[in-house]
Amino acid sequence: MKGCFITFEGPEGAGKTTVLKLAASRLEEMGIETLTTREPGGIKIAEQIRSVILNKENTEMDPRTEALLYAAARGQHMAEKVIPALNEGRTVLCDRFIDSSLAYQGHARGLGIDEVLGINMFATSHVMPDATIYFDLDPETGLERISKNEDREINRLDLEKREFHEKVQQGYKEVLERFHGRIKTVDASKSLEEVTEDVVEILLKVIPGSLNHS
Ligand code: TYD
Repeated sequence: MKGCFITFEGPEGAGKTTVLKLAASRLEEMGIETLTTREPGGIKIAEQIRSVILNKENTEMDPRTEALLYAAARGQHMAEKVIPALNEGRTVLCDRFIDSSLAYQGHARGLGIDEVLGINMFATSHVMPDATIYFDLDPETGLERISKNEDREINRLDLEKREFHEKVQQGYKEVLERFHGRIKTVDASKSLEEVTEDVVEILLKVIPGSLNHS
C-alpha cells in the first residue's frame, strides 16, 4: 500500500478528535492528501454497528459480543474505506483503532489482550497502522473535560465508573510497552495548540516524503 496509515489513541476527553481535525488541515495545507475517519464508524455499515454498541439501553451486552462488534465494524471500515484510500496513496488519520479494543475490551473488560488481538487480526486481514499517536492524560482530567463539553454525546462506555477508565489506562500502558516501536506518546494535558504542534511534528517524521512539503 502506498499511503501511510496513522491512528490516534487515548482515553475519553484527551482531545484526539479535535487535534486530528486540526492536524489534518495542516497536512492538507502542505499538499499532503489526507483522509480523516473514526472508529467505530466511518461508513454506513460500521455506523449501524456503532449505534448498537454504544446504545445506552444495551446494558446486557456481553463483553465478547462487544469485542466482536468492534472488530466487525473495524473489518468493514478497513475493507470499504481505509485500504482503498491507502492504495490511492492517501494518508489516513483514524480516530481510534485496534489499540482501543486491546485496552478497553482486552484489558478493562478482562478478555485478554492476546485474545482480542487475535479476533482483530482476522477482522483486518492483519493490517496494522504504520504509526500511532497516544494521547497521554489521566482518566480523571479526561472525564472532567467531557463533563464540561455539552456538545458531546454521552454513550454506553461513558457511563462506566471511574475504575473502568482507570483500567483502560492500565490497558493502554501494556499496549504501549508491547508496541513501543509503533506508538508515539504526546502529553495531552498541554493546550490544544501545543498538542497539535507536537502531533504535526510526529506526523511529518512518520509520513514518508512529507518533509519535502513543509
Ligand atoms: P466515541 O464517542 O467515539 O469516544 P471518543 O470521543 O472518546 O473517541 O466513542 C467510542 C467509545 O468506544 C469510547 O468509549 C471507546 C470505545 N471503544 C472501545 O471500547 N473499543 C474499540 O475498539 C473502539 C474503537 C472504541
